[in-house]
Amino acid sequence: MDLTPRPLPPPRHALDAVVHPDPYPWYRERVARAPLVFDAELGLWVAASAEAVRAVLAHPAARVRPPLEPVPAPLAGSAVGAMFGRWARMNDGSAHAAVKPMLQGALGALPAPRWQPAGEACRQALEGPAALDAFVLGWPVRAMAQLLGLAPAEAVAHEVQAVVAAISPRADAAQRERGDAAARTLQQHWQQAQATPMQTLLASAARSAGVDAAVLSANSLSLLVQTQDATAGLVANTLHRLAVDAGLGEAVRRGSVPLPYLLDEVLRFDAPIQNTRRWFAEEAQLLGHTLRAGDAVLVLLGAASHDAAVNPSPERFDPARAAPVSFAFGLGGHACPGATLARSLAASAVQGLLDAGLDPRRTGPARHWYPLPNARIARFSPAQEHASS
Ligand code: HEM
Repeated sequence: MDLTPRPLPPPRHALDAVVHPDPYPWYRERVARAPLVFDAELGLWVAASAEAVRAVLAHPAARVRPPLEPVPAPLAGSAVGAMFGRWARMNDGSAHAAVKPMLQGALGALPAPRWQPAGEACRQALEGPAALDAFVLGWPVRAMAQLLGLAPAEAVAHEVQAVVAAISPRADAAQRERGDAAARTLQQHWQQAQATPMQTLLASAARSAGVDAAVLSANSLSLLVQTQDATAGLVANTLHRLAVDAGLGEAVRRGSVPLPYLLDEVLRFDAPIQNTRRWFAEEAQLLGHTLRAGDAVLVLLGAASHDAAVNPSPERFDPARAAPVSFAFGLGGHACPGATLARSLAASAVQGLLDAGLDPRRTGPARHWYPLPNARIARFSPAQEHASS
């Protein structure tokens, strides 16, 4: 019997790549041979190269929502839909221009938080793969809830998960109903929030930007939603890397690979947010193609960071890489304002787990990736449906 491991079949398409054990050779092939193409199966243009991703994200006609559907139709008229409709992430033009500086101002002025993930939470995470997954998915949002003065953090994290599940294009009616209730509950938490430096900064930035109370509350709560899957992905994908890369864990422990460098290379190599989307409001010319008004583009952030034109030998995982170029936090007007906080949250979680005695080599590599359309989150316990899939 031939026991040679069979090569993995490549991803079927760019959405399948998010949950593929190793989509990167396929991504690099797309970067080289099909930097921007129309995928008839997905009904989407797919931008893979650094040049194509930059061109789409910087294009003045590119919108974060379909122009005729600012809020997904199934959410229209609901509390969760109203919240969604106020998020900076889901708006362009004046609605975005007013709120983005508020978020950037508040997050930029935030003193470096002193996280305390170690101790009980990390020790519990060592009880087995399911406990580790639960810590990785839950801890970043609980930490953000504390920053925002929302209590109890555990209950808040639960409601955030329900909102994330409800806004997924794959949500069913029951998930949307549950998300609607969760959006109302989160608003009540916001009304009763304790004063924290972050809350004070957001409120004062909102006053300077002339942002009203409903927009302030929706966008403050959006920080929890934006944190959840993306930061969990960074923590989980780092643990996966430590499991597959012999010697890396030891190098981190010795300090020859500083944890921030490791995280930055994970962000480049194995992006937590693999793709985002844009819709064209007008006809546009991009890389020799004509995109028509209404066309949608899947923007492969995870592929662009593997473009040899911006990162030489992109297939090499190298935390000492000189001047890495990463698309992990997006770019242009909608670039992530939480990047610094995300890095600090993830560093604290990974360090806390290692200090508590986690040995990623013994835990082993990911067994699956949560079935999500854009977030890539390694999972260490056997597969089950994820709430936000
Ligand atoms: C490793 C963790 C994270 C990753 C990889 C990540 C990635 C991203 C990306 C790619 C975008 C742009 C999406 C687009 O252009 O379509 C984005 C936007 C955003 N992120 Fe993050 N994010 C992370 C953590 C966070 C955290 C912790 C916060 C909150 C403190 C946050 C808040 C936001 C907000 C508010 C936006 C919308 C900005 C806008 O539309 O102008 N993110 N993020």
